Amino acid sequence: MTENATTRKATTQNAGTQHEPLGPPRAEPTARHTISVEVNGEAVTAEVESRLLLTDFLRHRLRLTGTHVGCEQGACGACTIQLDGQPVRSCLMLAAQVDGRSIRTIEGLAAPGEDLSPVQQAFADQHGLQCGFCTPGFVMSVTSLREQVEATGAAATEAEIQDCVDSSYCRCTGYVNIRKAARQALGVPVEVAGTSQSEADESEGAGA
Ligand code: FES
Ligand code: FES
Repeated sequence: MTENATTRKATTQNAGTQHEPLGPPRAEPTARHTISVEVNGEAVTAEVESRLLLTDFLRHRLRLTGTHVGCEQGACGACTIQLDGQPVRSCLMLAAQVDGRSIRTIEGLAAPGEDLSPVQQAFADQHGLQCGFCTPGFVMSVTSLREQVEATGAAATEAEIQDCVDSSYCRCTGYVNIRKAARQALGVPVEVAGTSQSEADESEGAGA
């Protein structure tokens, strides 16, 4: 093929693939979206950028700072909230994804001056926290399981309780009292039958 023929062919191909420029894609980081979401029972409408994390929307735009941020990669569980009644890691979601959905954060469990929720009370009764950084995540996870138990009438299984205790990282407590709090909140005996405290401590320490 001569050079001219090659040039003509390339020109023809390019002409065939040219398109009118499109508008910015909806996923472009700075594209803006209007979302309507129910947060702790209240309707919220906001304009958010595509790249805005749900944790940042909750903490910085709505000032709901009870949702904590530890790892920002889905590992620690500190940012756990309820989305349509299910526990989710809010650091793994974008604010734009919750349009039309319902969110509950730790602030939605009991208003200032109100009685604590049964799960919050269980954590207080069982001393299931020290610094408290991990606590909102655990409380939201246990709350979801408790609501499932209430809705189905089926008691939580040991595996489900273990999942709740495994759902977040705690760097203070050693998990023993978190497990007790979860069990109290779920209406099962606080002590695991047939397990001594030293065995429980050993088991929890191995899983931490
Ligand atoms: S901050 Fe979301 S899982 Fe750690
Ligand atoms: S109570 Fe401090 S990290 Fe769990």
